[in-house]
Amino acid sequence: METMKKSVLYSREAIRQRVLELGEEVSKAYENRELVVIGVLKGAFMFTADLVRALSIPCRIDFVRLASYRAGTETSGRIELTKDIEIPIAGKDVLVVEDIVDTGLTMKFLEENLKARNPRSLKVCAFIDKRLRRKVPFEADFVGFTMDDGFVVGYGLDFDEQGRFLPDVCVLSQEK
Ligand code: PRP
Repeated sequence: METMKKSVLYSREAIRQRVLELGEEVSKAYENRELVVIGVLKGAFMFTADLVRALSIPCRIDFVRLASYRAGTETSGRIELTKDIEIPIAGKDVLVVEDIVDTGLTMKFLEENLKARNPRSLKVCAFIDKRLRRKVPFEADFVGFTMDDGFVVGYGLDFDEQGRFLPDVCVLSQEK
């Protein structure tokens, strides 16, 4: 990644602003409900931390970790839950917080897995929605930013485990 060019796509200020707006939207949708926020590790750790701080309603917080097996940047479609939630979600309103929805395979898998535990409702808040890349139909309920294609790092997103720490979201390109 060090040899690639990084250009800022969403600045930390633009992210802060959008997360505040999402916080308001989510708070309105879950007024007087028992909200359980489930962050998807690792990519959504920063977004989850910021989003819950932008809520004006109480929530409980848990995390899952999913492993999707890839050949290069392409997913094989095989996904496994490698860390489960610890809070029971039956009868609760659940909001999954994801960093990026790409092919949609990860969210489809998680949605089915969590629905089997009978939550009262299940919605997804995605920081970035790469709509044109879907391999299966999937619609997130709350979306921070929509982009067509391109490889992004920062704000939790990585390239081979690098770049997660960056406070801005940057697009990577081959030219120096
Ligand atoms: C990334 C991202 C999503 C998933 C989206 O996770 O965080 O969970 O891929 O891709 P999909 O829509 O094509 O299924 P990754 O496996 O890179 O793990 P990470 O969150 O630990 O970076």
